[in-house]
Order: sequence, then structure tokens, then C-alpha cells
Amino acid sequence: MQQKIRAKFQEYFKTEGSVFASPGRINLIGEHTDYNGGFVFPGAIDKGMIAEIKLNGTDKIRAYSVDLDDYAEFGLTENDLPKAGWAKYIFGVCREIIKRGGEIHGFDTAFAGDVPLGAGMSSSAALESTYAFALNELFQLGIDKFELAKIGQSTEHNYVGVKCGIMDQFASIFGKAGSLIRLDCRSLEYKYFPFNPKGYKLVLLDTLAKHELVDSPYNKRRESCERVAAKLNVEFLRDATLEMLEGVKPEITEEDYMRAKYVIGEVQRVLDVCDALEAGDYETVGQKMYETHYGMSKLYEVSCEELDFLNDVAKECGVTGSRVMGGGFGGCTINLVKDELYDVFIGKAFADYKAKFGFEPKMYPVVISDGSRQLA
Ligand code: GLA
Repeated sequence: MQQKIRAKFQEYFKTEGSVFASPGRINLIGEHTDYNGGFVFPGAIDKGMIAEIKLNGTDKIRAYSVDLDDYAEFGLTENDLPKAGWAKYIFGVCREIIKRGGEIHGFDTAFAGDVPLGAGMSSSAALESTYAFALNELFQLGIDKFELAKIGQSTEHNYVGVKCGIMDQFASIFGKAGSLIRLDCRSLEYKYFPFNPKGYKLVLLDTLAKHELVDSPYNKRRESCERVAAKLNVEFLRDATLEMLEGVKPEITEEDYMRAKYVIGEVQRVLDVCDALEAGDYETVGQKMYETHYGMSKLYEVSCEELDFLNDVAKECGVTGSRVMGGGFGGCTINLVKDELYDVFIGKAFADYKAKFGFEPKMYPVVISDGSRQLA
């Protein structure tokens, strides 16, 4: 992919720039907990975005999306918002840096990626992190990694319209090969957990059903959580217990109750999974993953027919753990599969899924990799 970008950059701009990359992410457990101040447990993967960039001495950005074969040109003031969806991410990152006092100027850039779009693997965070990391280096801004992650997150909030949490950008920037990261999304304290479950494989099955987070069911989930937190007089649902929730049940809607019940359970599940991992107890890890799927499907209602179907196939095959990964509404299931079950499970998942939906899902083995970096 790097070669492809370099060749394209040369073709477009007749020169060479610096090359940066940032990955997408998986998340073992802890979904929709980040914006509730809770814990998440992501890791960066070996798929992501690569961008070549060269300062051009103007105040204009000239950008190519190699994959979409599209070009955009825009300035750096708030009025210069580009029309193309993909360009808004680059523009947003620039604006968020400028709002924080960073001095940046125009550049030429081309980017491409191999993290599947809309699969719940955070292609957009990979794009934001690539540019936040790169511009920080190229303009020597001295912004720390936490703030780089927040720049990506604010880009989603202010220029894309998704009120996301910090997990995706954090994982993309802080990723470390071979380790998952347990992140406390309230304090931003984090700890790397080496993850190499002997005798198991971690595999993603992509339903190829697309989710639409903008304008959106995602933001509505967040609003439900915030309403319940306000009712309970806590800053975040992370601080609430099921007993507290029962206490206000008559005063909130059934829907808000279900959303909060899921989140409170999920915050605890991340901690349980960390304990189980430290004890090498993968059966418990897997069981918690199934519990998360149930909660996301029945209480948080962010699953879909295709995801539930793949989760059922995993269960039937005796797969250790399986659940919808990421924001939901489509995308992938993440599966913790014993080595000896792997072939049977993948074979059955492909065949049954095709029989039901008319096409096969996609499969990605998980390789836990490093975060944002400069390649050349
Ligand atoms: C999306 C958001 C994240 C997080 C997940 C769900 O990926 O960008 O902040 O909320 O959904 O866990």
C-alpha cells in the first residue's frame, strides 16, 4: 500500500513527501462504555490508513483520496469546509489543531487505506489519527498523544456529526503490537495487556451490512445514557449501579432504562474480562463476550439480523466467545475461537450465511499491531 501511495503522490504532485500511517482497531469488550466514562479494551490492528504529505508553502490543502479517486482543495478557515465527506476528516483535524493554538499551513497529500469502511473497525479514526499525528510532526507542534486522540474525537463531533467517545482514536494512536489496552475513559489511565491466547484465534467476520452512525441512532443512544445519568445525579453511567437504576425506573422511559442497564453491565464486564485474562481463563472471557452481544442486541438494540445470525452460528459451533464489535448497526462480529474449531466454524459461518443472505461474509484474522507512526 505504501508503494501505491508513493506512486500516486509522485503522479499527482511530481515530488515526494513524508509518509505516515495509523491503524484501525478491534475491541475485545467494552462497547458504548467510552462516552459513559467507563472502560474499553481495544487494540490497534494491521489494517489502517497511509498518507503522504508535503508542505506546499500556501494556506491551501490539496488532497487526493486514492481509493475514491477523488480530489478536494480547501483552505484552513472555518468557512472552508469541503463538500466531500472524506475531506471533512482532514479539514476537521486541521481546524481542531488550529483551535488549540497550533500553527499549521497548507500541504499536498494523498491517502489510501485497507481498513474496511463501515465494518466497525474505525476507518475514520484511522484517518483522523493519521493526519493529527502527521501534522503534529511536520509542524513540530509538540501536542501530546492524548490531545492528538481528542483532536480526532472533536473532528467527529464538530465536522462529522458523530458524538463518539475516545476509544477509537485512542487505540489508533496508542496501539502496541501484541497488546490490548485497557483504558479508563474517564481518567484516561491505561494499561497494556499482552494478548496472545495460546490455543485460540481471534477472528472478525464482516457481515458486510453497513451502519450509518451520522445523524443518528448512535447519538440517540448517547442521549439516553446522559438522561439517565442526569436523573441519577452522576456525571457518567459508569458511576451508577443496577440498584440505583432500579430506584429511578418509574421516572424514566422503558427505552432509557434498557440502554442504561446494558451500559452498567458492560462497564463491569470489561473489568471481569481483565481479571479472567490475567488468570488465563478464556472460558469466562468468551462467556462475557456472549453477554455483551445479548445486551447490545436486546437492551441497547444496536445489532441487526446479520450480526445476530453470525452470533448464533458461533454459539451452535461451540465457539468460546462471539459478539458484535464496535458501534453496531452492521459491521463485524469478533470471535474467540479454539484452534481445533476454527475450520469448522469458518466453514459453517460462510455456508450458512450465504444460504441465508445470498452472499458470504468476509473474514479477517486479527493481528494486534502498533499505533500511529511515520513510515518514511
Ligand atoms: C464507535 C465510536 C466509539 C465507541 C464505539 C462503541 O466506534 O466511535 O467511540 O463508542 O462505537 O463502543
